[in-house]
Amino acid sequence: MRARVVYESMFGNTATIAEAIAQGLGIHATVEVVDVTTAAQLPEPTVDLLVVGGPTHAFGLSRPRTRRDAATRTSAPVAVETGIREWLESALPVPEGARAAAFGTKAAHPRRLPGSAARGIGRRLRGLGYQLIGEPTDFLVDAMTGPLTAGELDRARRWGEQLAHIELERDASHICRRRE
Ligand SMILES: Cc1cc2nc3c(=O)[nH]c(=O)nc-3n(C[C@H](O)[C@H](O)[C@H](O)COP(=O)(O)O)c2cc1C
Repeated sequence: MRARVVYESMFGNTATIAEAIAQGLGIHATVEVVDVTTAAQLPEPTVDLLVVGGPTHAFGLSRPRTRRDAATRTSAPVAVETGIREWLESALPVPEGARAAAFGTKAAHPRRLPGSAARGIGRRLRGLGYQLIGEPTDFLVDAMTGPLTAGELDRARRWGEQLAHIELERDASHICRRRE
């Protein structure tokens, strides 16, 4: 199985989660991890599973305005114009049977806010025709710029493994059906 993990990250936390998910997926898949700016320059993904994640900003997916705000809080370069929202808006509908999974990050403190990048990404992926694998899942950071909340890296690795198992079982049942 081939998988691609595409992420957006201002402070590095979603990037770290993306790598952990890729590690988990790696038990059964060849995985590439690319940030959304790079993904926007690549041809449409022809992988078996596309996994997409980004940070929750203002209760949903980031926008140029929220990315500009984030840029004032970090010395790391922030791509203001293109995020997951814009990348998915410009994506083409996919053929039936294409599979994807959605994840996000969000802040646990000072209080847990409503809204979820994972759910927003999941909705958009479904709208493009993807069949969603697993539940859209958010991972927590302690505060706006991080660090990741204790245990979240392991949870991300396990989530990646679960996705790989779902894909593996699906492949196995296809092979059995073909033999019948
Ligand atoms: C402009 C801005 C708005 C944010 N809005 C929310 C929010 O509505 N809910 C939430 O849980 N976290 C919010 N956060 C915290 C982000 O989710 C957090 O910075 C992100 O998960 C860190 O991921 P990153 O290091 O990959 O950028 C916001 C952060 C920024 C910069």
